[in-house]
Amino acid sequence: MGAQEPVFKMKEGTDIPDMGNAPLPVEPYISAEFFEREREKIFKRAWLEVAREEDIPNPGDYLVQDIEVLKASVIIVRGQDNRVRAFHNICTHRGNKIALKECGNAKHFTCGFHGWVFGNDGELKMITGKEYFPDYVDENKLGLRSLACDTWKGFIFVHHNPNPPQGLREFLGAMADQLDAFPHDQCQRIARYSATPRVNWKVVLDAFQEAYHAIMVHRISLPNSASGAGNPAAMPTSVRLHGPHRSISAWANPGYLPPETGMIVGKYGPSFATQKGQFPGTNPSDDDNWWFDINVFFPNFFCDVGPGWYFTYNFWPVDVNHTRWTMDIYQLKAEHAGALLAQEHTKVLLRDAVLEDFGTLEDTQAMMESGALDVLTISDGEIALRHQMNVVHQWLARP
Ligand code: FES
Ligand SMILES: [Fe+2]
Repeated sequence: MGAQEPVFKMKEGTDIPDMGNAPLPVEPYISAEFFEREREKIFKRAWLEVAREEDIPNPGDYLVQDIEVLKASVIIVRGQDNRVRAFHNICTHRGNKIALKECGNAKHFTCGFHGWVFGNDGELKMITGKEYFPDYVDENKLGLRSLACDTWKGFIFVHHNPNPPQGLREFLGAMADQLDAFPHDQCQRIARYSATPRVNWKVVLDAFQEAYHAIMVHRISLPNSASGAGNPAAMPTSVRLHGPHRSISAWANPGYLPPETGMIVGKYGPSFATQKGQFPGTNPSDDDNWWFDINVFFPNFFCDVGPGWYFTYNFWPVDVNHTRWTMDIYQLKAEHAGALLAQEHTKVLLRDAVLEDFGTLEDTQAMMESGALDVLTISDGEIALRHQMNVVHQWLARP
């Protein structure tokens, strides 16, 4: 905390470990060697969110997710038994990729190289010309290679280790407890945005886990919405650290008036800028002037929630300075035309806001790579960045 007494005080909703107040070194954002360690010690050892169950509602429905940081292409498929499984997209004969479309429905996957056939439960069903293979070749041992796969509230997670030491629910811990009451199942996806900027994954992720930037970056799309006389630097209202995960509540300026369209649609349905108030699974610290919660699941998934809507981000590292970013926006299912208008409003407002967010990122990365700056200077309001970096270092230090 600085020498001046702050106007606004952030609440702490959980114990906050002492993480010091030192500046954060730049090196982890620009070092290829550091990135390789993150690949091995973080991404190959964490549960990673990949899709929603409603993306593959019927037996045989599948989607393919290329996960660059795992150097893998992964098939996520609902079997005839309704169970969702995840497999490496590789034929166990000579390594060809077996599912070539991004999504579809299939009882079987037939390899396009020599015609081996796999069931949607991963079992090898048929070897073409089996009689020409040695006796030891056994279909039962040549099924598709699995990743661990589990779901929480409709979110599908995979783990590179088929037998991870920690189950999904245990990994999510108190972060999941906090969100358990949120009605994800009553919402529908209304938009997906994606981009692959030339930027390290932590630089993009950091830009979405603090509200301090709203005072400049969002002065066009959301002027004075997250800051105002009572909170000029857009400090969060509260913060909670849940193991490697964290939750930050953003402050809403009570004096903020959205533009006229926002006011009109806000009468008919939830919208990002206009709806305030109590809603299950939100505002866990019961803050005044609460806007929404930024919920960060380590290492690379966000589920931000507000009254009647939520949106998710996935930050997929491609290499040290490229990140594939996806945003999915969900809102309570529309039951009348007015609610559809509110959905459209959220979609367009968030599009404009994230375009503003992306305006700084590539320049930030390029400037950090210049080597002119060794450290980043962090405020109390940017505690989420400090926590993320702290957890990254903890995971890298594991044997
Ligand atoms: S590589 Fe798939 S059948 Fe040969
Ligand atoms: Fe932003």
